[in-house]
Amino acid sequence: MKKIRYSEITPEKIYINRRSFIKSIGIGAGSIAVTSLPFTNSALSKEDDKHTSFKDITTYNNYYEFGTSKSDPYIKSQNFKTNPWNISIEGEVDNPIKISMEEISETLVSEERVLRLRCVEGWSMVIPWMGFSLSKLLSKVTLTSKAKFVKFESVYDPDQMKGQRYPVLNWPYKEGLRIDEAMHPLTTVVTGLYNKKLPNQNGAPLRIFVPWKYGFKSAKAIVKIELVEKMPTSSWMWASPREYGFYSNVNPNVNHPRWSQATERVIGNNIFAPRVKTLMFNGYGEEVANLYAGMDLKKFF
Ligand code: MTE
Repeated sequence: MKKIRYSEITPEKIYINRRSFIKSIGIGAGSIAVTSLPFTNSALSKEDDKHTSFKDITTYNNYYEFGTSKSDPYIKSQNFKTNPWNISIEGEVDNPIKISMEEISETLVSEERVLRLRCVEGWSMVIPWMGFSLSKLLSKVTLTSKAKFVKFESVYDPDQMKGQRYPVLNWPYKEGLRIDEAMHPLTTVVTGLYNKKLPNQNGAPLRIFVPWKYGFKSAKAIVKIELVEKMPTSSWMWASPREYGFYSNVNPNVNHPRWSQATERVIGNNIFAPRVKTLMFNGYGEEVANLYAGMDLKKFF
């Protein structure tokens, strides 16, 4: 009998997920031994998994506080003052705290986490972040039983951030996660990239990174984390609720009302390179799909 390859009898998507699972348990190349989760999206080919260059990661940014063009953050954030910096963790907690950046770096160890960023605009990068799970930072407080969602707030400082002098968004930048999403080990507090201190344009001194959601969910330069009972309204939901939902999971089957989300342009590839297929949950489905079991992701976009 002719031998049939596994890939011939399995729909492509499942096959790709199998590959990613094999890598995630540490058999394949590229998994990081020190951590229990696969911080590289192994569902993509080697070529697509190539780290985006430091230059591209730090000069092609979205950070509306410094302006709306891609080069504004790099050009206009260089003198932004990130020291001293404090973050408050408050709301539905028994013991609200205000914690300094020094205390965070002294008590929580950052590790390298290579994670993919998929922007809602249709481009992507592979970024060697430095950071730790948000759950570790949240373990410094005791949540009340009403803590159902987490709300993030970025800094408000129109003297230093000229973009905030214009009502492009309802400043300060606000984002949110459901508590189980926030506690997922892949939800990362970022402190650096390429083994260096986080550049201002990428959200220094501290930003959130949620790899299976569109990039705008990952708020930069956060100063406040609030545990809340009701689903918070993010700045983007407030700006255009028809286009930006609370969940904003990367989903090639749910288009943005104005464009398709089926494919993406890999930043750093030459301009003639074809776009690549966008993967459900940005390729992290093995890890996070269970958070949405039974939910209609067209409705909860
Ligand atoms: N956070 C704040 N405070 N302000 C912003 O404008 N832009 C978001 C997100 N976080 C943004 C933000 C968007 S749209 C994206 S795609 C990512 O940051 C980009 O992160 P990067 O510049 O580090 O690649």
